[in-house]
Amino acid sequence: MGAYQPLQHHHGGAGAGYFLPRTAVTWLAAACLSLALLHLLCCSPPGGHQAVFSPLLQYFNGNGTYSSNISSSGVEERSSSAASCDYSVGRWVRAPGHARRYNGTACNVKPEQDCVGNGRPETGYLDWRWQPASCELPAFDAAAFLAAARGRHVAFVGDSMARNQAESLHCLLAAAFPHELVAQDAERYKRQFTRWSFPSHGVTLSTYWAPFLVRSGGKPFNYTMPYNLVYLDELGNRWDADAGTMDVVVLTAGHWFWNPAVYHRRGEVVGVHAHPELNATEIGFTSPYREAFRRALERLGSDGRRRTVVLGTFAPPHFDGKPIFDPTACTRTEPYRDGEKEVGSIEREMRSIVFEEAAAAAAAAATMRVEVEDVTRLATMRPDGHPGVYMHRDPFAGGGARPERMQTDCLHSCLPGPVDTFNEILLQILSRQR
Ligand SMILES: *[C@@H]1O[C@H](CO)[C@@H](O)[C@H](O)[C@H]1NC(C)=O
Ligand SMILES: *[C@@H]1O[C@H](CO)[C@@H](O)[C@H](O)[C@H]1NC(C)=O
Ligand SMILES: *[C@@H]1O[C@H](CO)[C@@H](O)[C@H](O)[C@H]1NC(C)=O
Ligand SMILES: *[C@@H]1O[C@H](CO)[C@@H](O)[C@H](O)[C@H]1NC(C)=O
Ligand SMILES: *[C@@H]1O[C@H](CO)[C@@H](O)[C@H](O)[C@H]1NC(C)=O
Repeated sequence: MGAYQPLQHHHGGAGAGYFLPRTAVTWLAAACLSLALLHLLCCSPPGGHQAVFSPLLQYFNGNGTYSSNISSSGVEERSSSAASCDYSVGRWVRAPGHARRYNGTACNVKPEQDCVGNGRPETGYLDWRWQPASCELPAFDAAAFLAAARGRHVAFVGDSMARNQAESLHCLLAAAFPHELVAQDAERYKRQFTRWSFPSHGVTLSTYWAPFLVRSGGKPFNYTMPYNLVYLDELGNRWDADAGTMDVVVLTAGHWFWNPAVYHRRGEVVGVHAHPELNATEIGFTSPYREAFRRALERLGSDGRRRTVVLGTFAPPHFDGKPIFDPTACTRTEPYRDGEKEVGSIEREMRSIVFEEAAAAAAAAATMRVEVEDVTRLATMRPDGHPGVYMHRDPFAGGGARPERMQTDCLHSCLPGPVDTFNEILLQILSRQR
């Protein structure tokens, strides 16, 4: 851990390690289907992106001072300190009511994630809490969170999973404290940007959709295109423009990287992923994934503002090989039991990349505290917490039989749902600094 991995800038030949094992390829093919879903849930309609980026809403006016001791000791050292706990290893234990903390309809979550409001009949998925192996994870405490974030701008940056967690946090806080919606993209832009404020504590909470962290084009904005365009050395996103106002940044991305892509650096194609039609070197997606995090961390570590950056590890989907139009996908109603499900090899690799980049950035940063919110394992164990067909309102209304084809979401978390636990961990990370 902590070894600084060189970025693999291959220009000729296919380097070892770029080709995934056959099982992984099969699995990725299934994963591509879930990307169709990511798109449907997170992106602007064709032709919509111009308007999305035009009027940048700049309402934030906090100055983000904060008083913690900035350490450059890095992730590894910090996680071995007495005050910390490894929340990443543990199990889900039954705890009736634990996750019934807010009404998703009342706090206006994305309708596709409002499982209770959409009529999901069984709600047992709300009766679990995460029990770390060697310590306790306290239940979410809105007052403690707002105290830890007092006077600061907390921003989630990344794909629709980042937004899912931001909306969870908003609801957890809004259930206990007065709040205001400051700005939100029109629904037709799928909430690429939302900002709330909690005036009692001077806390601002924002979410920025940036599926690759770095600048992208193609499929994310025009779904008829067969691949993503990823500009590895450019940020140029809305979040980049606002980064100077951010005091706590949660970065989460990953799912879009599985898609076919054409990668650029300095305006030139440097490789592709799963796009053999283009005569360019296959470079896989893990090296670009690493590079995107590195670019985002460089941005956040270079402007002299004291801030905390939290990298979320990958939270896997649970289509388990079924197509996204299969209404029987992710219909489990309980978490996996111990030993029933292991973290997959691709997820493990993506998780390691996040840890390595966090450690490298922490060692290099003077003003930035870098932490990892390691949710891969706990998310892996929760096939029951996705909307599934309850991404639709009353999907079986009229008493009809379950149709053969119906789009399902086995990717995001119901709100409320397992993603609330990510915010319980985030609270512990932020509390540790004061
Ligand atoms: C979307 O991409 C297709 C090609 O795949 C293109 O024909 C179309 O003009 C694009 N639409 C917009 C709005 O850019
Ligand atoms: C920062 O840490 C040092 C050593 O750990 C300690 O002596 C000092 O009081 C701390 N400062 C603040 C403001 O917490
Ligand atoms: C949630 O809130 C909505 C509107 O705010 C209300 O109609 C609904 O009954 C509430 N649901 C529950 C389970 O309390
Ligand atoms: C801004 O910074 C000043 C000190 O530089 C502090 O007194 C004030 O409370 C801060 N305001 C906010 C909103 O954080
Ligand atoms: C692809 O590149 C190789 C080597 O540069 C070249 O020989 C080949 O003709 C190219 N194929 C196409 C379809 O452009």
